[in-house]
Amino acid sequence: MKKIGRKVAIITDDPGWHGEQLKSSLNNYGLESSYLSLTNCSLQIAGENSTIKLPDFDTLPLGVFVRGVPGGTLEQVIFRLNILHTLNNYGIVVYNSPKAIERTVDKPYTSITLAYSGLPTPKTWICESTKQANQIVEKEWIKNNKIIQKPLFGSQGIGIHLIDQATGLIYDEKFAGVYYLQEYIERKDDNFKDIRVLVVDGTAKAAMTRHSNDWITNRARGASCELLELNEKLSYLSETACKVLDIDYAGVDLIEDKNGSLHIIEVNSIPAWFGLQKVVNFNVSDCLIKSFIKKITKNNSLSACTN
Ligand SMILES: Nc1ncnc2c1ncn2[C@@H]1O[C@H](COP(=O)(O)OP(=O)(O)O)[C@@H](O)[C@H]1O
Ligand SMILES: [Mg+2]
Repeated sequence: MKKIGRKVAIITDDPGWHGEQLKSSLNNYGLESSYLSLTNCSLQIAGENSTIKLPDFDTLPLGVFVRGVPGGTLEQVIFRLNILHTLNNYGIVVYNSPKAIERTVDKPYTSITLAYSGLPTPKTWICESTKQANQIVEKEWIKNNKIIQKPLFGSQGIGIHLIDQATGLIYDEKFAGVYYLQEYIERKDDNFKDIRVLVVDGTAKAAMTRHSNDWITNRARGASCELLELNEKLSYLSETACKVLDIDYAGVDLIEDKNGSLHIIEVNSIPAWFGLQKVVNFNVSDCLIKSFIKKITKNNSLSACTN
């Protein structure tokens, strides 16, 4: 299967509202699309007959929009990403690229890259040894600093803990044997909010605050969303974070500390935009698909396609 068709693959196991939005935006551009689960794809390696098999696709897709990579064993996740890499190697636009997804799904890699690029991100320690982890947190607790423990590949605020002397380190299979320990950023008057910025094609397009009763302010955990006007600082930080992580589009999470300084918490390569859509006056899905199609056109696969 080497020929490129006209149909776009939306990678997802759970299309829902986001899948429908993408399908409808693609339709507005006259493009057909099908949902595709990475769990149903396969590779055949047989010399010249090597091929990738995608259910419901007779040809290679025109482009691949990644809406979800399901979790699983390390082997399953690596295999699923290899499907995306293989499509990429066939010259197909995969949006976001598998490399960008790998860089950002991995919280330690993101933190290190942001810090090395001179971007403000909370102090973070990553280690495997429980002894080392205990030494780190005890040193911080003596100084009365609060510490957060996060799963390396977490999302939607799941599995994040605020730990102190009373709780000690948390042992949970979600941490998969690696400690990701981060300084807790205190917000002014314990007003629990953070900022989500949507960056597309290197430009910050919109921002919102997420407000919650709890210090974990993911929308999936019930935080309320409010439009926030972009300013120079917010745009600069979010756009630079995307640039250093080399990502086509992203949802960048930031927290403002007590003194008004911004800290980049994470960069989401498969962000949901249900909350953002409710507060902005443009169609987020159309904006993403416009950028996706621009990339396909630049890649020339639109003129190379066979039907
Ligand atoms: N260092 C921190 N200090 C204070 N709050 C944080 C910190 N890191 C995360 N949070 C809170 O937890 C939420 C989820 O953290 P995040 O790192 O974005 O993980 P997830 O991938 O689960 O969204 C953030 O939106 C924020 O509200
Ligand atoms: Mg987040």
